[in-house]
Amino acid sequence: MRIAMIGSGYVGLVSGACLADFGHEVVCIDKDPEKIAALNEGRMPIYEPGLDALVAENVRQKRLAFSTDLKPAVAGAQAVFIAVGTPSRRGDGFADLSYVYAAARAIAEALTGYAVVVTKSTVPVGTGDEVERILREARPDLDIGVASNPEFLREGAAIGDFKRPDRIVIGAEDARAAAVMQEVYRPLYLNQAPILFTGRRTAELTKYAANAFLATKITFINEIADLCEQVGANVQEVARGIGLDNRIGSKFLHAGPGYGGSCFPKDTLALVKTAQDYGTPVRIVETVVAVNDQRKRAMARKVIAACGGSVRGKRVALLGLTFKPNTDDMRDAPSLSIIAGLQDAGARIVAYDPEGMEQARPLLQGVDYAEDAYACAEGADALVIVTEWNAFRALDLARLKAMMAAPVLVDLRNVYAPDEARRHGLRHVGVGALASRD
Ligand SMILES: NC(=O)c1ccc[n+]([C@@H]2O[C@H](COP(=O)([O-])OP(=O)(O)OC[C@H]3O[C@@H](n4cnc5c(N)ncnc54)[C@H](O)[C@@H]3O)[C@@H](O)[C@H]2O)c1
Repeated sequence: MRIAMIGSGYVGLVSGACLADFGHEVVCIDKDPEKIAALNEGRMPIYEPGLDALVAENVRQKRLAFSTDLKPAVAGAQAVFIAVGTPSRRGDGFADLSYVYAAARAIAEALTGYAVVVTKSTVPVGTGDEVERILREARPDLDIGVASNPEFLREGAAIGDFKRPDRIVIGAEDARAAAVMQEVYRPLYLNQAPILFTGRRTAELTKYAANAFLATKITFINEIADLCEQVGANVQEVARGIGLDNRIGSKFLHAGPGYGGSCFPKDTLALVKTAQDYGTPVRIVETVVAVNDQRKRAMARKVIAACGGSVRGKRVALLGLTFKPNTDDMRDAPSLSIIAGLQDAGARIVAYDPEGMEQARPLLQGVDYAEDAYACAEGADALVIVTEWNAFRALDLARLKAMMAAPVLVDLRNVYAPDEARRHGLRHVGVGALASRD
Protein backbone atom coordinates (compact mmCIF):
# COMPACT_ATOMS: atom_id res chain seq x y z
CA MET A 1 0.00 0.00 0.00
CA ARG A 2 1.25 3.52 -0.77
CA ILE A 3 1.12 5.91 2.13
CA ALA A 4 1.96 9.60 2.45
CA MET A 5 2.75 10.99 5.91
CA ILE A 6 2.39 14.76 6.13
CA GLY A 7 4.55 16.05 8.98
CA SER A 8 7.76 14.23 9.94
CA GLY A 9 8.09 15.12 13.61
CA TYR A 10 8.01 12.75 16.59
CA VAL A 11 4.75 11.16 15.47
CA GLY A 12 4.99 11.37 11.68
CA LEU A 13 8.54 10.09 11.49
CA VAL A 14 8.04 7.20 13.89
CA SER A 15 4.67 6.24 12.36
CA GLY A 16 6.07 6.50 8.82
CA ALA A 17 9.11 4.38 9.63
CA CYS A 18 7.01 1.73 11.40
CA LEU A 19 4.42 1.58 8.60
CA ALA A 20 7.30 1.14 6.13
CA ASP A 21 8.63 -1.63 8.35
CA PHE A 22 5.24 -3.35 8.05
CA GLY A 23 5.88 -3.47 4.30
CA HIS A 24 4.04 -0.37 3.08
CA GLU A 25 5.65 2.15 0.74
CA VAL A 26 5.84 5.38 2.71
CA VAL A 27 6.92 8.90 1.85
CA CYS A 28 7.32 11.21 4.83
CA ILE A 29 6.77 14.86 3.95
CA ASP A 30 7.79 17.90 5.92
CA LYS A 31 7.76 21.58 5.08
CA ASP A 32 11.00 22.04 7.01
CA PRO A 33 13.77 21.59 4.40
CA GLU A 34 16.48 21.16 7.07
CA LYS A 35 14.61 18.26 8.62
CA ILE A 36 14.19 16.54 5.27
CA ALA A 37 17.81 17.20 4.26
CA ALA A 38 18.99 15.67 7.54
CA LEU A 39 16.79 12.60 7.03
CA ASN A 40 18.02 12.19 3.47
CA GLU A 41 21.57 12.24 4.80
CA GLY A 42 20.70 9.58 7.38
CA ARG A 43 20.69 11.98 10.36
CA MET A 44 17.73 11.90 12.75
CA PRO A 45 16.25 15.33 13.53
CA ILE A 46 15.00 14.02 16.90
CA TYR A 47 16.29 11.64 19.53
CA GLU A 48 14.18 8.52 19.79
CA PRO A 49 15.75 5.17 20.76
CA GLY A 50 16.04 2.76 17.81
CA LEU A 51 14.74 5.23 15.24
CA ASP A 52 17.98 5.68 13.29
CA ALA A 53 18.36 1.94 12.64
CA LEU A 54 14.69 1.51 11.71
CA VAL A 55 14.82 4.43 9.28
CA ALA A 56 18.12 3.31 7.75
CA GLU A 57 16.86 -0.23 7.15
CA ASN A 58 13.61 0.87 5.52
CA VAL A 59 15.34 3.48 3.36
CA ARG A 60 17.74 0.74 2.26
CA GLN A 61 14.78 -1.49 1.38
CA LYS A 62 13.36 1.43 -0.63
CA ARG A 63 10.12 1.43 1.34
CA LEU A 64 10.75 4.77 3.06
CA ALA A 65 11.61 8.13 1.51
CA PHE A 66 11.61 11.77 2.62
CA SER A 67 10.66 14.87 0.71
CA THR A 68 9.45 18.44 1.00
CA ASP A 69 7.39 17.91 -2.15
CA LEU A 70 3.91 16.86 -1.07
CA LYS A 71 2.34 16.53 -4.51
CA PRO A 72 4.04 13.42 -5.92
CA ALA A 73 3.83 11.67 -2.55
CA VAL A 74 0.08 12.22 -2.23
CA ALA A 75 -0.74 11.46 -5.87
CA GLY A 76 -1.47 7.75 -6.01
CA ALA A 77 -1.33 7.18 -2.25
CA GLN A 78 -4.21 5.15 -0.82
CA ALA A 79 -3.83 6.64 2.65
CA VAL A 80 -2.62 10.17 3.43
CA PHE A 81 -1.88 10.79 7.10
CA ILE A 82 -1.86 14.25 8.64
CA ALA A 83 0.68 14.23 11.51
CA VAL A 84 1.44 17.94 11.85
CA GLY A 85 1.60 19.82 15.13
CA THR A 86 -1.49 21.04 17.00
CA PRO A 87 0.03 23.34 19.63
CA SER A 88 -1.98 25.49 22.04
CA ARG A 89 -3.30 28.59 20.35
CA ARG A 90 -1.77 31.72 21.83
CA GLY A 91 -4.27 33.47 24.05
CA ASP A 92 -7.08 30.97 24.54
CA GLY A 93 -5.39 27.55 24.83
CA PHE A 94 -7.60 25.96 22.15
CA ALA A 95 -5.74 23.68 19.74
CA ASP A 96 -4.19 25.64 16.87
CA LEU A 97 -5.51 23.81 13.82
CA SER A 98 -3.92 26.03 11.21
CA TYR A 99 -1.25 23.41 10.35
CA VAL A 100 -3.88 20.68 9.99
CA TYR A 101 -6.07 22.79 7.70
CA ALA A 102 -3.08 23.96 5.64
CA ALA A 103 -2.09 20.32 5.17
CA ALA A 104 -5.68 19.45 4.15
CA ARG A 105 -5.68 22.20 1.51
CA ALA A 106 -2.33 21.02 0.12
CA ILE A 107 -3.56 17.41 0.06
CA ALA A 108 -6.73 18.44 -1.79
CA GLU A 109 -4.65 19.93 -4.60
CA ALA A 110 -2.51 16.82 -4.90
CA LEU A 111 -5.04 13.96 -4.75
CA THR A 112 -5.53 12.05 -7.99
CA GLY A 113 -7.95 9.25 -7.07
CA TYR A 114 -9.67 7.58 -4.14
CA ALA A 115 -7.69 7.99 -0.93
CA VAL A 116 -8.42 8.09 2.76
CA VAL A 117 -7.17 11.23 4.45
CA VAL A 118 -6.38 10.29 8.04
CA THR A 119 -5.89 12.70 10.90
CA LYS A 120 -3.22 11.30 13.21
CA SER A 121 -2.56 14.63 14.92
CA THR A 122 -4.45 15.12 18.17
CA VAL A 123 -7.39 17.29 17.14
CA PRO A 124 -10.58 18.51 18.83
CA VAL A 125 -13.92 16.91 18.09
CA GLY A 126 -15.25 18.02 14.74
CA THR A 127 -11.87 18.64 13.11
CA GLY A 128 -12.39 15.64 10.81
CA ASP A 129 -15.67 17.21 9.65
CA GLU A 130 -13.82 20.42 8.79
CA VAL A 131 -11.01 18.53 7.02
CA GLU A 132 -13.66 16.75 4.95
CA ARG A 133 -15.35 20.06 4.13
CA ILE A 134 -12.03 21.57 2.99
CA LEU A 135 -11.27 18.59 0.79
CA ARG A 136 -14.73 18.36 -0.79
CA GLU A 137 -14.96 22.10 -1.38
CA ALA A 138 -11.55 22.16 -3.08
CA ARG A 139 -12.12 18.98 -5.08
CA PRO A 140 -15.82 18.20 -5.61
CA ASP A 141 -14.69 15.82 -8.36
CA LEU A 142 -12.90 13.46 -6.01
CA ASP A 143 -14.05 10.40 -4.14
CA ILE A 144 -12.40 10.47 -0.72
CA GLY A 145 -12.70 9.09 2.76
CA VAL A 146 -11.76 11.02 5.90
CA ALA A 147 -10.79 9.10 9.01
CA SER A 148 -9.45 9.79 12.47
CA ASN A 149 -6.64 7.63 13.81
CA PRO A 150 -5.27 9.25 16.96
CA GLU A 151 -1.78 8.25 18.01
CA PHE A 152 -1.03 6.99 21.52
CA LEU A 153 2.73 6.41 21.28
CA ARG A 154 4.99 7.70 24.05
CA GLU A 155 8.21 9.50 23.24
CA GLY A 156 11.14 7.43 24.42
CA ALA A 157 9.28 4.17 23.74
CA ALA A 158 7.63 5.23 20.50
CA ILE A 159 8.64 2.38 18.20
CA GLY A 160 7.56 -0.34 20.65
CA ASP A 161 4.31 1.51 21.28
CA PHE A 162 3.56 1.82 17.57
CA LYS A 163 4.38 -1.80 16.80
CA ARG A 164 2.78 -3.30 19.88
CA PRO A 165 0.01 -0.88 20.78
CA ASP A 166 -2.47 -1.46 23.59
CA ARG A 167 -5.10 -0.59 20.99
CA ILE A 168 -5.60 1.17 17.69
CA VAL A 169 -8.54 3.55 17.45
CA ILE A 170 -9.99 4.25 14.02
CA GLY A 171 -12.83 6.65 13.50
CA ALA A 172 -14.37 6.22 10.08
CA GLU A 173 -17.77 7.19 8.74
CA ASP A 174 -18.02 4.64 5.93
CA ALA A 175 -17.06 1.04 5.23
CA ARG A 176 -14.70 1.85 2.35
CA ALA A 177 -12.53 4.13 4.48
CA ALA A 178 -12.62 1.61 7.33
CA ALA A 179 -11.44 -1.14 4.96
CA VAL A 180 -8.44 0.94 3.83
CA MET A 181 -7.52 1.61 7.46
CA GLN A 182 -7.83 -2.07 8.26
CA GLU A 183 -5.38 -2.77 5.44
CA VAL A 184 -2.93 -0.16 6.82
CA TYR A 185 -2.90 -1.95 10.18
CA ARG A 186 -3.29 -5.51 8.90
CA PRO A 187 0.16 -6.56 10.18
CA LEU A 188 -0.89 -5.54 13.69
CA TYR A 189 -4.28 -7.16 13.29
CA LEU A 190 -2.41 -10.42 12.72
CA ASN A 191 -0.56 -9.69 16.00
CA GLN A 192 -4.00 -9.41 17.62
CA ALA A 193 -3.60 -5.77 18.57
CA PRO A 194 -7.14 -4.66 19.42
CA ILE A 195 -8.52 -2.37 16.72
CA LEU A 196 -11.51 -0.29 17.74
CA PHE A 197 -13.65 1.03 14.91
CA THR A 198 -15.69 4.00 16.02
CA GLY A 199 -17.29 7.11 14.61
CA ARG A 200 -14.86 9.90 13.74
CA ARG A 201 -15.92 12.19 16.57
CA THR A 202 -15.64 9.37 19.08
CA ALA A 203 -12.08 8.63 17.96
CA GLU A 204 -11.13 12.29 18.23
CA LEU A 205 -12.53 12.54 21.75
CA THR A 206 -11.01 9.21 22.85
CA LYS A 207 -7.51 10.63 22.48
CA TYR A 208 -8.27 13.67 24.65
CA ALA A 209 -10.07 11.57 27.22
CA ALA A 210 -7.06 9.22 27.45
CA ASN A 211 -4.55 12.04 27.95
CA ALA A 212 -6.79 13.89 30.40
CA PHE A 213 -7.27 10.72 32.45
CA LEU A 214 -3.52 10.07 32.60
CA ALA A 215 -2.82 13.70 33.52
CA THR A 216 -5.44 13.38 36.25
CA LYS A 217 -3.79 10.27 37.65
CA ILE A 218 -0.41 12.01 37.84
CA THR A 219 -1.92 15.11 39.42
CA PHE A 220 -3.87 13.04 41.92
CA ILE A 221 -0.76 11.27 43.22
CA ASN A 222 1.12 14.59 43.29
CA GLU A 223 -1.50 16.06 45.62
CA ILE A 224 -1.40 12.91 47.75
CA ALA A 225 2.41 13.38 47.86
CA ASP A 226 1.97 16.88 49.30
CA LEU A 227 -0.36 15.47 51.92
CA CYS A 228 2.12 12.69 52.72
CA GLU A 229 4.79 15.30 53.42
CA GLN A 230 2.51 17.01 55.92
CA VAL A 231 1.27 13.93 57.75
CA GLY A 232 4.46 11.88 57.78
CA ALA A 233 3.34 9.23 55.26
CA ASN A 234 5.25 7.93 52.24
CA VAL A 235 3.74 8.46 48.80
CA GLN A 236 5.68 5.67 47.12
CA GLU A 237 4.18 3.19 49.54
CA VAL A 238 0.73 4.72 49.17
CA ALA A 239 1.08 4.47 45.37
CA ARG A 240 2.06 0.83 45.62
CA GLY A 241 -0.75 0.18 48.07
CA ILE A 242 -3.36 1.56 45.72
CA GLY A 243 -1.68 0.58 42.44
CA LEU A 244 -1.82 -3.13 43.20
CA ASP A 245 -5.59 -2.81 43.03
CA ASN A 246 -6.38 -3.86 39.45
CA ARG A 247 -9.13 -1.29 39.23
CA ILE A 248 -6.52 1.44 39.79
CA GLY A 249 -3.30 0.07 38.27
CA SER A 250 0.23 1.08 39.21
CA LYS A 251 1.16 3.14 36.12
CA PHE A 252 1.21 6.93 36.26
CA LEU A 253 1.29 6.93 40.03
CA HIS A 254 4.81 8.30 40.42
CA ALA A 255 4.81 11.57 42.30
CA GLY A 256 7.08 14.18 40.77
CA PRO A 257 7.42 17.77 39.60
CA GLY A 258 4.18 17.79 37.56
CA TYR A 259 3.46 16.63 34.03
CA GLY A 260 4.92 18.40 31.04
CA GLY A 261 5.80 17.52 27.47
CA SER A 262 4.33 18.07 24.07
CA CYS A 263 0.94 16.48 24.79
CA PHE A 264 -0.59 16.55 28.27
CA PRO A 265 -0.39 20.33 28.87
CA LYS A 266 -1.86 21.32 25.52
CA ASP A 267 -4.33 18.45 25.29
CA THR A 268 -5.83 18.98 28.76
CA LEU A 269 -6.20 22.66 27.93
CA ALA A 270 -7.80 21.95 24.56
CA LEU A 271 -10.28 19.52 26.14
CA VAL A 272 -11.21 22.14 28.72
CA LYS A 273 -11.85 24.65 25.92
CA THR A 274 -13.90 22.23 23.82
CA ALA A 275 -16.02 21.27 26.80
CA GLN A 276 -16.62 24.92 27.70
CA ASP A 277 -17.61 25.66 24.10
CA TYR A 278 -20.21 22.90 24.23
CA GLY A 279 -21.51 24.10 27.59
CA THR A 280 -20.46 20.94 29.45
CA PRO A 281 -17.37 21.94 31.42
CA VAL A 282 -14.99 19.17 32.50
CA ARG A 283 -14.32 20.53 35.96
CA ILE A 284 -12.00 17.75 37.05
CA VAL A 285 -9.70 18.45 34.10
CA GLU A 286 -9.91 22.21 34.72
CA THR A 287 -8.65 21.57 38.25
CA VAL A 288 -5.93 19.22 37.02
CA VAL A 289 -4.61 21.94 34.70
CA ALA A 290 -4.56 24.53 37.50
CA VAL A 291 -3.01 22.19 40.10
CA ASN A 292 -0.30 21.08 37.70
CA ASP A 293 0.61 24.67 36.74
CA GLN A 294 0.97 25.60 40.40
CA ARG A 295 3.01 22.50 41.09
CA LYS A 296 5.75 23.30 38.60
CA ARG A 297 6.30 26.65 40.29
CA ALA A 298 6.09 25.04 43.74
CA MET A 299 9.05 22.82 42.85
CA ALA A 300 11.33 25.89 42.69
CA ARG A 301 10.11 26.85 46.17
CA LYS A 302 10.88 23.32 47.35
CA VAL A 303 14.48 23.69 46.19
CA ILE A 304 14.74 27.11 47.82
CA ALA A 305 13.43 25.68 51.11
CA ALA A 306 15.94 22.82 50.88
CA CYS A 307 18.69 25.44 50.56
CA GLY A 308 17.66 27.02 53.84
CA GLY A 309 15.19 29.56 52.47
CA SER A 310 17.37 31.41 49.97
CA VAL A 311 19.26 30.57 46.80
CA ARG A 312 20.51 34.09 46.15
CA GLY A 313 24.04 33.82 44.77
CA LYS A 314 23.97 30.02 45.18
CA ARG A 315 24.87 27.51 42.53
CA VAL A 316 22.01 25.11 41.87
CA ALA A 317 22.77 22.08 39.68
CA LEU A 318 19.97 20.43 37.71
CA LEU A 319 20.16 16.88 36.39
CA GLY A 320 17.70 16.37 33.55
CA LEU A 321 15.96 19.03 31.49
CA THR A 322 13.65 17.09 29.18
CA PHE A 323 10.10 16.42 30.37
CA LYS A 324 10.92 12.72 30.68
CA PRO A 325 13.87 10.43 29.97
CA ASN A 326 14.81 9.02 26.55
CA THR A 327 13.70 12.01 24.54
CA ASP A 328 15.21 15.34 23.59
CA ASP A 329 11.78 17.01 23.70
CA MET A 330 11.78 20.17 25.82
CA ARG A 331 8.21 21.28 25.12
CA ASP A 332 6.55 22.40 28.38
CA ALA A 333 9.17 20.57 30.45
CA PRO A 334 8.84 21.23 34.21
CA SER A 335 12.56 22.15 34.22
CA LEU A 336 11.69 25.39 32.41
CA SER A 337 9.40 26.62 35.22
CA ILE A 338 11.77 25.36 37.92
CA ILE A 339 14.75 27.16 36.40
CA ALA A 340 12.74 30.37 35.94
CA GLY A 341 11.65 30.24 39.59
CA LEU A 342 15.19 29.64 40.82
CA GLN A 343 16.69 32.35 38.62
CA ASP A 344 14.05 34.81 39.84
CA ALA A 345 15.19 33.99 43.37
CA GLY A 346 18.79 34.80 42.44
CA ALA A 347 20.24 31.31 41.85
CA ARG A 348 22.98 30.55 39.35
CA ILE A 349 21.96 27.48 37.34
CA VAL A 350 24.14 24.77 35.89
CA ALA A 351 22.46 21.89 34.11
CA TYR A 352 23.16 18.60 32.43
CA ASP A 353 20.88 16.44 30.26
CA PRO A 354 22.02 13.45 28.19
CA GLU A 355 20.02 14.45 25.07
CA GLY A 356 18.06 17.63 25.75
CA MET A 357 20.68 20.37 25.96
CA GLU A 358 20.57 21.33 22.29
CA GLN A 359 16.81 21.89 22.39
CA ALA A 360 17.08 23.55 25.81
CA ARG A 361 19.61 26.23 24.82
CA PRO A 362 17.24 28.48 22.84
CA LEU A 363 14.60 28.21 25.60
CA LEU A 364 16.80 29.15 28.55
CA GLN A 365 18.91 32.20 29.29
CA GLY A 366 21.80 32.41 31.73
CA VAL A 367 22.21 28.66 32.22
CA ASP A 368 25.63 26.98 32.21
CA TYR A 369 25.76 23.49 30.74
CA ALA A 370 27.95 20.72 32.13
CA GLU A 371 29.45 17.73 30.34
CA ASP A 372 28.14 15.12 32.74
CA ALA A 373 26.39 14.70 36.07
CA TYR A 374 29.57 15.07 38.16
CA ALA A 375 30.78 18.18 36.36
CA CYS A 376 27.30 19.57 36.96
CA ALA A 377 27.48 18.89 40.71
CA GLU A 378 30.96 20.38 41.15
CA GLY A 379 30.77 23.23 43.69
CA ALA A 380 26.96 23.17 43.79
CA ASP A 381 24.94 24.24 46.80
CA ALA A 382 22.17 21.84 45.79
CA LEU A 383 21.78 19.07 43.24
CA VAL A 384 18.27 18.68 41.84
CA ILE A 385 17.19 15.57 39.96
CA VAL A 386 14.46 16.79 37.62
CA THR A 387 14.32 13.97 35.05
CA GLU A 388 14.97 10.34 35.91
CA TRP A 389 17.37 9.38 33.11
CA ASN A 390 18.98 5.97 33.70
CA ALA A 391 22.36 7.73 33.81
CA PHE A 392 21.26 9.38 37.08
CA ARG A 393 20.07 6.22 38.82
CA ALA A 394 23.40 4.90 40.06
CA LEU A 395 25.47 8.00 40.75
CA ASP A 396 28.41 7.74 43.13
CA LEU A 397 26.81 9.63 46.03
CA ALA A 398 30.01 9.81 48.09
CA ARG A 399 31.80 11.40 45.14
CA LEU A 400 28.97 13.89 44.71
CA LYS A 401 29.06 14.80 48.39
CA ALA A 402 32.83 15.35 48.21
CA MET A 403 32.60 17.72 45.25
CA MET A 404 29.53 19.76 46.24
CA ALA A 405 29.69 23.00 48.25
CA ALA A 406 26.68 21.88 50.33
CA PRO A 407 25.35 18.30 50.56
CA VAL A 408 21.77 18.88 49.47
CA LEU A 409 20.09 16.42 47.08
CA VAL A 410 16.62 17.45 45.94
CA ASP A 411 15.27 14.33 44.31
CA LEU A 412 12.10 15.32 42.47
CA ARG A 413 11.71 11.80 41.02
CA ASN A 414 12.44 9.81 44.20
CA VAL A 415 15.30 8.01 42.46
CA TYR A 416 17.29 7.54 45.68
CA ALA A 417 16.21 6.14 49.02
CA PRO A 418 16.63 8.84 51.71
CA ASP A 419 18.62 6.44 53.91
CA GLU A 420 21.06 5.65 51.14
CA ALA A 421 21.67 9.34 50.47
CA ARG A 422 22.12 10.00 54.19
CA ARG A 423 24.63 7.17 54.49
CA HIS A 424 26.77 9.03 51.97
CA GLY A 425 26.44 12.31 53.80
CA LEU A 426 23.79 13.91 51.60
CA ARG A 427 20.59 15.49 52.86
CA HIS A 428 17.80 13.99 50.76
CA VAL A 429 14.69 15.97 49.95
CA GLY A 430 12.33 13.81 47.93
CA VAL A 431 8.69 14.11 46.94
CA GLY A 432 5.95 12.82 49.19
CA ALA A 433 7.99 11.83 52.24
CA LEU A 434 9.63 13.56 55.16
CA ALA A 435 13.04 14.99 54.23
CA SER A 436 16.03 13.28 55.83
CA ARG A 437 17.31 15.34 58.77
CA ASP A 438 21.03 15.66 58.21
N1 LIG B 1 4.91 13.77 20.42
C1 LIG B 1 4.13 12.84 20.95
O1 LIG B 1 4.53 12.10 21.84
C2 LIG B 1 2.73 12.66 20.44
C3 LIG B 1 2.03 11.49 20.79
C4 LIG B 1 0.75 11.31 20.31
C5 LIG B 1 0.16 12.29 19.53
N2 LIG B 1 0.84 13.42 19.22
C6 LIG B 1 0.20 14.42 18.35
O2 LIG B 1 0.73 14.28 17.05
C7 LIG B 1 0.80 15.56 16.41
C8 LIG B 1 2.23 15.82 15.96
O3 LIG B 1 3.05 15.89 17.11
P1 LIG B 1 4.64 15.87 17.01
O4 LIG B 1 5.14 15.78 18.39
O5 LIG B 1 5.05 14.84 16.00
O6 LIG B 1 4.90 17.33 16.42
P2 LIG B 1 6.26 17.90 15.79
O7 LIG B 1 6.21 19.37 16.00
O8 LIG B 1 7.43 17.11 16.26
O9 LIG B 1 6.11 17.59 14.23
C9 LIG B 1 5.21 18.22 13.38
C10 LIG B 1 5.89 18.37 12.01
O10 LIG B 1 4.91 18.77 11.05
C11 LIG B 1 5.56 19.62 10.12
N3 LIG B 1 4.53 20.37 9.39
C12 LIG B 1 3.67 21.31 9.85
N4 LIG B 1 2.84 21.72 8.87
C13 LIG B 1 3.17 21.01 7.76
C14 LIG B 1 2.67 20.97 6.43
N5 LIG B 1 1.64 21.73 6.05
N6 LIG B 1 3.24 20.13 5.56
C15 LIG B 1 4.28 19.36 5.94
N7 LIG B 1 4.79 19.33 7.18
C16 LIG B 1 4.24 20.15 8.08
C17 LIG B 1 6.48 20.46 10.99
O11 LIG B 1 7.51 21.06 10.23
C18 LIG B 1 6.98 19.42 12.00
O12 LIG B 1 8.19 18.82 11.54
C19 LIG B 1 0.28 16.57 17.43
O13 LIG B 1 -1.08 16.78 17.20
C20 LIG B 1 0.47 15.86 18.74
O14 LIG B 1 -0.44 16.28 19.72
C21 LIG B 1 2.12 13.61 19.65
